[in-house]
Amino acid sequence: RAMAIVKEFEEKCGTPDIKLKQVADAMTVEMHAGLASEGGSKLKMLISYVDNLPKGDEEGVFYALDLGGTNFRVLRVQLGGKAGGIVHQEFTEASIPPALMGGTSDALFDYIAEKLAKFVAEEEQKFHQPPGRQRELGFTFSFPVMQTSINSGTLIRWTKGFSISDAVGQDVVAELTKALQRKGVEMRVAALVNDTIGTLAGGRYTNKDVAVSIILGTGTNAAYVERAQAIPKWHGPLPKTGEMVINMEWGNFRSLHLPLTEYDHAMDVESLNPGEQIFEKMTSGMYLGEILRRVLLKIAEEAAFFGDEVPAKLKISFILRTPDMSAMHHDTSSDLRVVGQKLKDVLEISNTSLKKRRIVVKLCNIVTARGARLAAAGVLGVLKKMGLDSLKEPEKTVVAMDGGLFEHYAEYRGCLENTLRELVGEETASSIVVEHSNDGSGIGAALLAASHSLYLKDKS
Ligand code: BG6
Ligand code: GLC
Repeated sequence: RAMAIVKEFEEKCGTPDIKLKQVADAMTVEMHAGLASEGGSKLKMLISYVDNLPKGDEEGVFYALDLGGTNFRVLRVQLGGKAGGIVHQEFTEASIPPALMGGTSDALFDYIAEKLAKFVAEEEQKFHQPPGRQRELGFTFSFPVMQTSINSGTLIRWTKGFSISDAVGQDVVAELTKALQRKGVEMRVAALVNDTIGTLAGGRYTNKDVAVSIILGTGTNAAYVERAQAIPKWHGPLPKTGEMVINMEWGNFRSLHLPLTEYDHAMDVESLNPGEQIFEKMTSGMYLGEILRRVLLKIAEEAAFFGDEVPAKLKISFILRTPDMSAMHHDTSSDLRVVGQKLKDVLEISNTSLKKRRIVVKLCNIVTARGARLAAAGVLGVLKKMGLDSLKEPEKTVVAMDGGLFEHYAEYRGCLENTLRELVGEETASSIVVEHSNDGSGIGAALLAASHSLYLKDKS
C-alpha cells in the first residue's frame, strides 16, 4: 500500500520536458499580461524604479539592511569609486524572533532599528563617517512592494510565513524611518529594493553580462532587465537608459500546467496565505520539507509505514525542515545512517529498515526534482520573454542566483542546472551561465543607495 501511494505521488509530480515547456510558455504569457496592466496577471511584474544598474564607479560608505530571508542582515560597505571594487565591508546577522513575524509593524521595525543602531554605533567607533554627511542606507525588503519611487513603496502583502496585518498598505520606508527616529538613529533610506533587485545589482557590479536574477531560498522570485517601452503600464518618463528592472514576484505564478498534488492543496489551504504563492509553495525552501512530511504522514496513516501507531511528531506542520530533508537526500552511507538519524532526531521515529529509508530518499528526490525542474522552466520563461532563449556563443547571458536552497541543497541546484541546459538545448546551453551571487543583495542595495545618494551631485 505504501508503495502504491509513493508511486501515485511520483506520477502526479511528473515534469516531462514537454510539460516544462508549457510552464515556461505560460510564464512568458503571464509576464506580458502583468506588464500590460496593474492586476492583469497573477504575476505582479512590479516596477522597481531601478533604471540604471551599477557601473562599477560607485563611491562612498553606505549601509544596507537585508530583511526577508532566513536571517536579517545589516551591512556597512565602502565602495572604491573609479578605482573600483569594495574596499571594505562588514556585516552582522540575526534571526527574526518568530513572535515578531506575526506581531505588529512597530514591533518588527523597532527590533530591526535597534540592531541597526547598535551596528552603526560599533562601526563608527572603528571608522569615521565623513563629517557633515548624512548616513545613507539601501533597504532590501524581500516582499511584494508597490514602489512609488526608488525609496518609497507600500507593502502589498506578506509572504513566507510573515503576517503583520497593520503593515500591509503602509510605506515600509516610512515605517523604518519612524523606528530609526524612535531609536535616535539619523539615517536616510536612499533605495528600497527587493532581494532579487539587490542580487541583480550586486551581480551586475561584478559581471556586466548579468541580466537576470533568481532567489531560491525560503521563498523564490526573479528579476530581470526589461525595455521600458515594453511596459505598457509604465506611464512615467522614459528612462535615459531605455530600461527598467522588473521584480516579477514569480512566487505567485500559477498555471494549469503545474503538477499539483493533494498534498500541495492541503498545505496551501492550511497556510497563512491560501491561494497565493502557488509556484513558491512547490519550489522553495520553506515548503519542500513540509510537502515531504505530508506524504510521510499519509503513508504512516494509511499503510502503517512507521508501525501501528502514527508517530506524533509527524503530525506537526513544518517540523521537517528542508535542510533536514537535504541532509537525508545527500546521505551516501551504505546503510543510510543519516536518514535513520534524522528520522529519529526530528520525528522520533526509530529502528527504520534500510528499505524504508530508501523510500524516504526516493520521496526527497521526487519533491526536489519537481521543484528544481519547475524553477528551471521559470528561468526558461524569463529568457524567452527577453529573447535570450536561443543565444549562440560568443553571446552570453548570466543568471545570478542566490538563496539558501540554491546554495546548500546540491541535488536541487544540480537538477535545476541540468534541466535548464536540457530545455534550452545544446547550442544555447553554453551561452546561459548560472552564477552564484553570494549575498549579493545586501551589497546590491548599498550600490543602489550609492547611485541614488543625495551627495552624488557634489561629486561631479
Ligand atoms: C541571501 C540574500 O543570500 O539570500 C538575501 O542576501 C535573500 O537577500 C536570501 O533574501 C534568500 O535566502 P534565504 O534562504 O535566506 O531565504
Ligand atoms: C517571496 C517574496 C519575494 C522575494 C522572495 C525571495 O516570494 O514575496 O519578494 O523576492 O520571497 O526571497
